[in-house]
Amino acid sequence: MIRTHLADLRAQVGSTVTIAGWVQALRLQRAMQFVVVRDHTGTVQVTHRRDGGPLESLLDSLTAESAVRITGVVRDNPVVSLGGLELVPETVVIENLAATPLPIDDRTGPEGRLDWRFLDVRRRPAARLVFAVQTTVERAMREFAYASGCTELHTPKLMGTASESGSDVFSVGYFGGQAYLAQSPQFYKQMAIAGGVDRVFEIGPVFRAEPSFTSRHATEFTGVDVELAWISSVEDVMSFEERMLAHVLAAVAASHGAEIEEHFKVPVTVPTVPFPRLTMAEAQSIAGSAAGSSGGPSAGRGDLDPAGERAVSARVQAETGHEFAFVTEYPASVRPFYHLRPAGQPHLTASFDLLWKGLEITTGAQREHRYDVLLAQAAEKGLAPEPMRSYLDCFRFGCPPHGGFGLGLGRLLMVLLGLDSIRDATFLFRGPNRLVP
Ligand code: 4AD
Ligand code: MG
Repeated sequence: MIRTHLADLRAQVGSTVTIAGWVQALRLQRAMQFVVVRDHTGTVQVTHRRDGGPLESLLDSLTAESAVRITGVVRDNPVVSLGGLELVPETVVIENLAATPLPIDDRTGPEGRLDWRFLDVRRRPAARLVFAVQTTVERAMREFAYASGCTELHTPKLMGTASESGSDVFSVGYFGGQAYLAQSPQFYKQMAIAGGVDRVFEIGPVFRAEPSFTSRHATEFTGVDVELAWISSVEDVMSFEERMLAHVLAAVAASHGAEIEEHFKVPVTVPTVPFPRLTMAEAQSIAGSAAGSSGGPSAGRGDLDPAGERAVSARVQAETGHEFAFVTEYPASVRPFYHLRPAGQPHLTASFDLLWKGLEITTGAQREHRYDVLLAQAAEKGLAPEPMRSYLDCFRFGCPPHGGFGLGLGRLLMVLLGLDSIRDATFLFRGPNRLVP
């Protein structure tokens, strides 16, 4: 018999159906046996009056979280608290009896939940909603990227030299030699631009060997990367990103707005474009005054620390009502060598971070596409050209002006759903202390 999802039972009152799911709760009483069954769409009460038959002993043998398939008649019963419906069973198949006791319960802490993530995700609809929202986010991103002329690429994650900086990079054994895990698709998406791909889009894994134990850092995360050729300025990149995010949030609000409100108590606000923009100098003065006369830890260093990011977002939200803020014109001292520096302003970069409700979700920039300038900027940062030869060669044979950004998918979900940690925005979190499961 075909399977009926629990959310669809109301339409089947009076019919015989087969449901499939897990035992969420058991109440085995003297005269009655009640089994609450959960599937990915909802829950239902299975009601059986004891009659001394085989069904009775089968139900008595059930344990919480066992996987069952039950055929029975759907009955309207207003006294049942779960939707005023119940299923009167005719046959019960125990597909997999769950061992007892369960290793986690409602009091289990965050690390224990990660140890038993499959049970955590199965037992909490909110945990599964995260991935439904993620699916919508990625679909909407792809829709926007394709409609905007992007080609989706998959750049390699194994590389012969460390990308970008060389620090925070994982090395892995490679046939007796060494390879590195990509910290960003950065160099390869630029190589695609040099390859004549007009607009590059990639969603893929990113690896960072940062020993960070914060709520927003993972050692492996999913990155969303865009690179656009023939731009006039970094403004083209910001414009692309804000329109993409407005499209994404409209899709999320339409598909999941009510559920998100119910499970996470946060409204999904579709942002207006353009997003507010402020320069790093302006951001610094907000962060500095928020930190008081002593100055925050990052005061004067030309970058924003997490407290500074929160202060800047709070000010922008208070003044404009907007949840997003582009911070532009980062000093060259805190940016990679490949960021373009505006004409006549060698200490600045044509770059930005995007803050959402106080958290950095994106870094982007126009790239330096002139070979000699790029070499000089690499030398200034103390980087030898030879290990990056295949990257640098992209700029010797006709590379157009271009720019792009990298966005952390876990961070976006974290802010969108008001989650405390990126651990809850990831199916299986990877951090300095976590490689299992
Ligand atoms: O800011 P990041 O390091 O920038 C780059 O990788 C550049 N190559 C992007 C570019 O096109 N210029 O990383 C991009 C984004 C961050 O803004 C953040 O959202 C996320 O990736 N991210 C992390 N997410 C989780 N855990 C970490 N350890 C992350 N590091 C960065
Ligand atoms: Mg960044």
